[in-house]
Amino acid sequence: MQIILGITGGVAAYKAADLARLLANRGHRVRCILTEAGARFITPLTLSSLTGEPCYGANPDQGEWRAVPNIEHIELARWAELVAVVPATANILGKAANGLASDLLSTVLLATRAPILWAPAMNTGMWEHPAVQANLDRLRSFGHAVVEPGEGVLACGEEGSGKLAEVAVIAEAIQVHGAPKLPVLAGRTVLITAGPTREDLDPVRTLTNRSTGLMGIELARAFRDAGARVQLVLGGDLPAPWGVETLRVRSAQDMLEACEARWTAADGLVAAAAVADQRPESPAAEKAKKLEGNETLVLTRTPDILARLSAARRPDQWAVGFAAESEQHLGHAQGKLLKKGLDAVLVNDIQGGRGFGAQDNALTPITSEGPHPAIGPLPKDQLARAVVQWWARRLEARQG
Ligand SMILES: Cc1cc2nc3c(=O)[nH]c(=O)nc-3n(C[C@H](O)[C@H](O)[C@H](O)COP(=O)(O)O)c2cc1C
Repeated sequence: MQIILGITGGVAAYKAADLARLLANRGHRVRCILTEAGARFITPLTLSSLTGEPCYGANPDQGEWRAVPNIEHIELARWAELVAVVPATANILGKAANGLASDLLSTVLLATRAPILWAPAMNTGMWEHPAVQANLDRLRSFGHAVVEPGEGVLACGEEGSGKLAEVAVIAEAIQVHGAPKLPVLAGRTVLITAGPTREDLDPVRTLTNRSTGLMGIELARAFRDAGARVQLVLGGDLPAPWGVETLRVRSAQDMLEACEARWTAADGLVAAAAVADQRPESPAAEKAKKLEGNETLVLTRTPDILARLSAARRPDQWAVGFAAESEQHLGHAQGKLLKKGLDAVLVNDIQGGRGFGAQDNALTPITSEGPHPAIGPLPKDQLARAVVQWWARRLEARQG
């Protein structure tokens, strides 16, 4: 993506350097625009060194805002696929909310047709002032996104709200806001399950599996970026993605209850969780003592979440499942498709440990038409985006 990063005059301006580097490392082209006040906190040289792109200044009299050969503010406004202002002062929020264009950044903000994202940072008194909040409401009403500041000790020594959001959170918000939306998914609610479930043997021991939940989390991000409202039911320890309503669960029973409570309101389901098929029949209330010799553990079936949701499914709802198979994977997945009444099964060939953890992965979709060409191997974030695009194309075709 081609990103304009506007940097205004607050102490948090130094954090914009980290953000610029992070975005450039992720393959985005980043051109910075400093306001005059911003340039007192951080230098153009730092920013252009980190991004490999020119850094633009505020003041045409200093020759930094050039009128020839091109009209620079219009060129930049057209070049941008997203404009992010990080940190955003109370001053720039006020200017943009009221259509003022008194320097390069505020003029680009007015001229661009690209999505705009704000990450404000300021003293608590300024942040809580009704004028600032009214300006933010106005900017939101234009469709701009706001990454709310957090709470903490501010540069002025006060403690309260107004602290710039974490750089990683802002980077994620930029990705979401700038990603092209898929009309067939935009505004739709997608229920996603991810991660392992854990079945307790006693208060310290559990039965689980080697899934991390990364694939499901990346799918949640990809559906979110495509414009869907995502409800993620998540097992395991990985952090929940930003901008996704996440409910953490432990056992298969917890996951079933969380899904059943959300299924009616959903348009579709992606069941990527690795649900334990069995649980100890009678978990011990106290830590089980070591015994000499062999022991027998009696296991009982956990609920079949996919079958239960599929049975309660309305005709307008869609359901996509996953199958992790180490042998005869296509045949087994075909069976799962039919038995559980799914629209598609994405088959993970887990031979050699593939499919779990951070490695690249490939998925073969199976539908009532049979197997489709494999998607991947790709890193899981790219694989998830490719899966969402594949599924969106099928949904579009279905809608005719
Ligand atoms: C040391 C210092 C720190 C400042 N920090 C902030 C800040 O965090 N947020 C803010 O809104 N204004 C802050 N200001 C005030 C702005 O720099 C001032 O409103 C300026 O006119 C903003 O211009 P700009 O929006 O064009 O960058 C600070 C000023 C100084 C001198």
